[in-house]
Amino acid sequence: MCDGNRNLHQVKILNFGSCNVDYVYSLDHIVKAGETESTYRLNTYPGGKGLNQSIAIKRAGSCVYHAGCIGEGGAFLLDILKRDGVDVSFLESVDEKNGHAIIQVCPSGENSIFLYPGSNHMISSRQIDHVLEAFSENDILVLQNEINAPEEIVEKAYRKGMRIVLNPSPYNEKIQGIDFAMLSYLILNEPEIKQISACETVSDALLYFQKAFPRLRVMLTLGGRGCIYQSEGKQIFCPSFRVNAVDTTGAGDTFTGYFVSGIANAQSTEQILRTASCAAALSVTKEGAATSIPYIAEVVAQIDSLEASTENAEK
Ligand code: RIB
Repeated sequence: MCDGNRNLHQVKILNFGSCNVDYVYSLDHIVKAGETESTYRLNTYPGGKGLNQSIAIKRAGSCVYHAGCIGEGGAFLLDILKRDGVDVSFLESVDEKNGHAIIQVCPSGENSIFLYPGSNHMISSRQIDHVLEAFSENDILVLQNEINAPEEIVEKAYRKGMRIVLNPSPYNEKIQGIDFAMLSYLILNEPEIKQISACETVSDALLYFQKAFPRLRVMLTLGGRGCIYQSEGKQIFCPSFRVNAVDTTGAGDTFTGYFVSGIANAQSTEQILRTASCAAALSVTKEGAATSIPYIAEVVAQIDSLEASTENAEK
């Protein structure tokens, strides 16, 4: 059972997503092709865009069901989700190595990631049908691109009238198989919006989505430059909060989780963007992905002072 506060209007949030073991290597610079570099630290963290986003949704104050697969070596991921109060009754154990990520982080906080999908690519049509049986019209489905069969999940959820939030990350050709007309929200970053739209500038890409999918709400994150929300031809910009970045891994997932929690609870767009941006900023001040996601109480306690120091720094 999903513990904690029930979401407003009884809206249920389902996240069909990945769970990864993150191996984080600290080194002086991101390794280039043909280069060999020694690292000075290795940390193992819970991660995966799916798991991170479920934890962010829960820490933002909403109930969330996480569906997917856990493989060999992934038992601690299940424990972490449970400890955070995420409902794991739709997570299945599979006979395959758990998905994992090899992450390089350099002193500026920048990262580079490669993934082994493993258990995250073991989702069956049977599991999809079984999970979706528990959800209905207006419930929210959250998806990223680290699991198999995203197009099948989108089609089946759309037929049920669920609101679908897609974070097309990491971008690859699988994304082109998804019918964007079935989506309610798209949350993506600058390289992703340019790749999907085949446009060279952000403004052209936003225009492309406005014309091609007029009902789709687009949430574009621009890292340290803020974010732009586009809905029905109108755009809202929210600046980012200034912090000292230690590790940017999981910042986008933190933003997505807080954004989803905000829409489930029918908050105003301005409030959602401000809270999600602040949560993402706080997450980069700590190491790791899931481990760096702040709780809503921390966001509320810090948002005004962080905003004031950001404004002063910009004067
Ligand atoms: O978005 C960050 C996540 O991407 C990491 O936790 C890693 O697992 C990769 O999936």
